[in-house]
Amino acid sequence: MKYLFILGRNIELSKAEVFSYFEKLGNRILKYELEKNGLFLDLENPIKENEIDFLGGVISIGKVIASGTEEELLKNIDKEELYFGTENKLNYTIWNFSKSLEVIRDYLKERFKKEKLKATLKHLTREIKLQEGKRANVPSSKLINEEYFIFGNKELYFGKIFQTCNYEIIEERDMNKPVRRASLAISPRLAKIMINLSKVKEDEILLDPFCGIGTILSEALLQKIKVMGIDKDEKAIIGARQNLEWSKFDKKDYQLINSNSTKTQIDYVYAIATEPDLGEILKKIPTKNKAKETLQKFEDLIVNVLNNFREKISGRVVFTSPNIRIGKKRIHPEIEKILKKTDYKLIYELPEFRENQIVGRMIYVLER
Ligand SMILES: C[S@@+](CC[C@H](N)C(=O)[O-])C[C@H]1O[C@@H](n2cnc3c(N)ncnc32)[C@H](O)[C@@H]1O
Repeated sequence: MKYLFILGRNIELSKAEVFSYFEKLGNRILKYELEKNGLFLDLENPIKENEIDFLGGVISIGKVIASGTEEELLKNIDKEELYFGTENKLNYTIWNFSKSLEVIRDYLKERFKKEKLKATLKHLTREIKLQEGKRANVPSSKLINEEYFIFGNKELYFGKIFQTCNYEIIEERDMNKPVRRASLAISPRLAKIMINLSKVKEDEILLDPFCGIGTILSEALLQKIKVMGIDKDEKAIIGARQNLEWSKFDKKDYQLINSNSTKTQIDYVYAIATEPDLGEILKKIPTKNKAKETLQKFEDLIVNVLNNFREKISGRVVFTSPNIRIGKKRIHPEIEKILKKTDYKLIYELPEFRENQIVGRMIYVLER
């Protein structure tokens, strides 16, 4: 089952998310190739029609419909139907992750002419800046009926996009919830990524020991994962409760505790996904000493919390940490020290920040 996953702006983070997600589902990745933000996957089993709703870092998913060398590919595409619409007017686009774009562009033009379709090729004109500094193009127009793609160089893969992330629905849900704390909250997109990195499955329990108003909890509940949220701020817990009630989640699927996570006693949970306090919100670049002080506080807090819960968690621990700009460099916690003091192993260390952001994030995924 061959697919193309078009990843969002943080390629390494999104790739780690997709890999963790299919690992948890037990859908083996038989082969993969990454070209810019295009991730080709050969999966053991087919994916669900709405798989994209479960992934935070994926823009679109396409299905491969023909493959082979240039010559074989064109012969194979000829056997496939490409347009299922009823009108004879069609706007289409081609996502390109290959040196053979021109071949496919010429083929489609001829093919649609033969089929007497008034087909117009629309270019991917909207540019997004990737985490690594490179750029990628995405469609800017909604008036596109079909999105095709070409991937690979020796072995080529051609296919059609069949799932696209609906950002509007996600944003609307986030903006309409009764309690919002814009400066402290994590985005639903990042919450989903972290949940997938934790590999927690349906019906297992995920703990967020710094739950705030419950963004990670909500995203997990939407995926039928049970949750436990802890926050030392009573107002945050009241806000989280209001938000979860507003979403009409079943009350037996969540537990909210107003307490200090360095001391709270809990029953067994499967994994942790959380964003602890990242320190003060800074408008100016801090001095190196000030930044180091923030990181030290962070390290002490996370070590205490992980050691408090260590006997109650068998799965992964996923947490964000401050990634602070000082001059042209960025500094983040010394993960080796945290690992040594908690006896965890590092699985991923993934930066997530915008160019001008003073306090960005470093995302850590740990396992015993
Ligand atoms: C960055 S916010 C989390 C935001 C959350 N992800 C959201 O979407 O609302 C960190 C939260 O950790 C809480 N907190 C800080 N230290 C804590 C501790 N020792 N135990 C429990 N909660 C703590 C704060 O009250 C704050 O609400």
